[in-house]
Amino acid sequence: MKKTHILLVLFAVVSMAGIMGFVLNKDATANGTTFDPRVEKLLAQMTLEEKIGQMTLYTTDWGSTGPTIREGYKNDIRKGNCGALFNSHTTAFTRELQRIAVEETRLHIPLIFGYDVIHGYKTIFPIPLGEAASWDLAAIEKSARVAGTEASAAGLHWTFAPMVDVSRDPRWGRVMEGAGEDTWLGCRIAEARVRGFQGKGIGQTDAVMACVKHYAGYGAGTAGRDYNTVDMSERFFRDYYLPPYEAAVKAGAATVMTSFNDYDGVPATGNKYLLTDILRNEWGFKGFVVTDYTSINEMVLHGVVANEKEAGELAVNAGVDMDMQSAAYQRFLAQSVKEGKVPMQAIDDAVRRILQAKFDLGLFDDPYKFCDTDREKKTILSAEHRAAARDVSRKSIVLLKNERNVLPLNRNQKVALIGPLADNKTELIGNWCAAGNFNDCVSLREGLRSAGIQTTYAKGCELDGHDKSGFAEAVKIAKAADVIVVAIGEKAQMSGEAASRTELNLPGVQEELVQELAGTGKPVVVVLMNGRPLVFPQLIGSASAILEAWWLGTETGNALTDVLLGEYNPSGKLPMSFPRSVGQVPVFYNEKSTGRPYDPNSKWTTQYIDSPNSPQYPFGFGLSYTTFEYDEPKVNRTTFKKGQTLQVLVNVKNTGSRDGEEVVQLYIRDLIGSVTRPVKELKGFQKVMIPAGQSKEIRFTITDQELSFYRRDMSFGSEPGDFDLMIGGNSAELKSVRVTMTE
Ligand code: NOJ
Repeated sequence: MKKTHILLVLFAVVSMAGIMGFVLNKDATANGTTFDPRVEKLLAQMTLEEKIGQMTLYTTDWGSTGPTIREGYKNDIRKGNCGALFNSHTTAFTRELQRIAVEETRLHIPLIFGYDVIHGYKTIFPIPLGEAASWDLAAIEKSARVAGTEASAAGLHWTFAPMVDVSRDPRWGRVMEGAGEDTWLGCRIAEARVRGFQGKGIGQTDAVMACVKHYAGYGAGTAGRDYNTVDMSERFFRDYYLPPYEAAVKAGAATVMTSFNDYDGVPATGNKYLLTDILRNEWGFKGFVVTDYTSINEMVLHGVVANEKEAGELAVNAGVDMDMQSAAYQRFLAQSVKEGKVPMQAIDDAVRRILQAKFDLGLFDDPYKFCDTDREKKTILSAEHRAAARDVSRKSIVLLKNERNVLPLNRNQKVALIGPLADNKTELIGNWCAAGNFNDCVSLREGLRSAGIQTTYAKGCELDGHDKSGFAEAVKIAKAADVIVVAIGEKAQMSGEAASRTELNLPGVQEELVQELAGTGKPVVVVLMNGRPLVFPQLIGSASAILEAWWLGTETGNALTDVLLGEYNPSGKLPMSFPRSVGQVPVFYNEKSTGRPYDPNSKWTTQYIDSPNSPQYPFGFGLSYTTFEYDEPKVNRTTFKKGQTLQVLVNVKNTGSRDGEEVVQLYIRDLIGSVTRPVKELKGFQKVMIPAGQSKEIRFTITDQELSFYRRDMSFGSEPGDFDLMIGGNSAELKSVRVTMTE
């Protein structure tokens, strides 16, 4: 072809693409945000009601994730009353609903389908708190990648995850959904999850939009009670609670969900300071904001507005783009616009953001892009996905105790397998298990069996209740065995949303069962499955070994068997402190010094008269089948100028006889600040494999960012002076080196 002909063809293709709207360039419009030119074109054709429809999200009747189910969602689609649906998945169902939207509505605008894909769609991974215990960012990203791949293959475009709420209160059932108590670890995990869900980018057929939630401060509800008030200083909020949301936004999360709680007296869903000043103006968030379930209406009960119409006005004016399930926008927003209570500009901006997401997803080019049934069949629960789940699951297990090296088990030992979770599948997928089916799970008993381990089995007792009639049988098989493995814990529904507890004990008679078994004199290995830090004083005395296994999901039995047999050397570390008693809650590692720091020999210092201050198991704690020894850390310079980077090195030796992974943790303390500073703060970690008998030098780089905080005048930055840099294998056992920052 001649050069001129090539140019002509190119010109024709480009013009056609322009007419059909396939041009990738975006126009700049309101608020400095850049939108696809097709957004503007479509917006110009929309009635106010159609715009409000795009700002509305309803659930289908396929799932109940809140108190009310609005009926008639198919009619809502037809009438253009909603632009997005949740709790709708599978290619068949989403195709059916999408067809109504694109064929039966005036403007043929496709729907977005969302779902709570929190730790897997069908292949269920460990609960997020469990995965956080892996301290393995690549594995966590992979878990979200698999979840995104399966969800998008099942017709979904959007997951309501990651949940990045920092929480120090294990009474709160939703700690299971987050990354635990630490801000820095929470930031890194938030980024990994966003990257995992969104893959190579929205619009790829294997990616879903992430939704950072619950913005903001939801993990700090008073008394650990779900949906409760949140009140704290702005300094505390910015230092500890806000950073993971910011990290997730900056990692490119497409959407943000508001939280149920208020912050500083204003419900998050109507909080302009949070939604506009911080989220959009400080952090530059360009995606759309959705409320949590009916949280617009709930502002009436919060007592900040008189009715749902005012609630909608407060929300949209604060910066909420999409109303989940309140129907407040649909019912009242047009009237509010007509009355001048809500500027048209606010509506247009919200709709632009939502339409832009639909263009980014590629739904205008092909609304059925995610409805490929063949792909769905091939992708979901694939061998590769199960293998990834097994990998993350075994990395998430934390070895809390291992007296006389009772673990790993020896293949020749006779094992008595006991406990309500030993042969159970129904609980293994935990809370928020999306489309997970417990029948796809491998139970602990099955896992051991398929590894060739013969066991005798007795249930012993239920997860709750007072019935001890099964104890006798359990003791009988225990006596005939060499070692007892007992699997106990919480019911899956005891953690998650609306599942706060005042007691953190093991429910029912489970702890008594372990004591009875220990009475046989045989070593007892306890496998715990639960959604939060628990308190189990008797167990610590009676068990020889304790494995914290959370809810591991589909591959539970295989992962646990790998660890029990030593095929995998445990490497998990707690992402939350485990208290000695409920009375200590909240107990966390990064507390401040106070004017009367803890001194067990002086009554007049900050302490209890009936308990030490320290938790039972500190943040970052976890044993291995090998041991690690840390040398004193060294720095490349003990004095450095503000802004200069600093290298800190430590030599870690594997002093045992097995290869093992260690999570080397770096904490800092700013000794004197213009405001009180925590006694330690995690600022880095590396998970490294160290072969038996060998050493590794671990190097951390500290920049000004790690030394910065909100200073007395609320500016963010570092202050010259002395810092302790502390390195170790958990937050309580650290070796330190002092450095000085000069102006
Ligand atoms: C309420 C929960 O707080 C939120 O996390 C979830 O995404 C929505 N319900 C939708 O199910």
